Amino acid sequence: MTEDKRETIYDIMGGARTVRMLVEAFYPRVQQHPLLAPLFPSDIHPVMEKQYLFLSQFFGGPSLYSDQYGHPMMQARHLPFPVTKERADAWLGCMSAAMNDIGMPQDLKDFLLERLQGPAYHFINTSDSD
Ligand code: HEM
Repeated sequence: MTEDKRETIYDIMGGARTVRMLVEAFYPRVQQHPLLAPLFPSDIHPVMEKQYLFLSQFFGGPSLYSDQYGHPMMQARHLPFPVTKERADAWLGCMSAAMNDIGMPQDLKDFLLERLQGPAYHFINTSDSD
């Protein structure tokens, strides 16, 4: 760590290895969730890779997503999908369970979930789940 570089939450959580583990624990849960599974393609691997790139950047690590895909515009990227309050809660629930799966410490888990809650609720775009 050089003097001019502050430690980020990405560093604190364990960097690339932890983000990778988190994404790998998260998507199998998404695929099993009755409210979420129908929205996702059966080949989940491209989505997992994009999420790895995005969360690395979101948590303060390298700007992997923007380097490859440009401005994230995440809310816009979710517009084609019916994101309800129930689905936002389900998404956060799968993320919480994935954090437990990888043995993330409780205080770190609480902090990261709070950071994710903002965008998750922001992406709600309908009350109609069809
Ligand atoms: C609120 C509930 C959410 C739902 C229901 C949801 C659902 C989806 C769906 C259906 C896709 C597209 C999958 C495909 O490519 O076919 C997607 C993509 C993605 N989501 Fe979400 N999502 C939610 C919240 C979030 C949150 C909170 C984040 C991150 C903070 C996030 C990050 C991403 C990323 C990075 C992608 C890939 C974007 C791309 O195509 O480049 N999502 N999401």
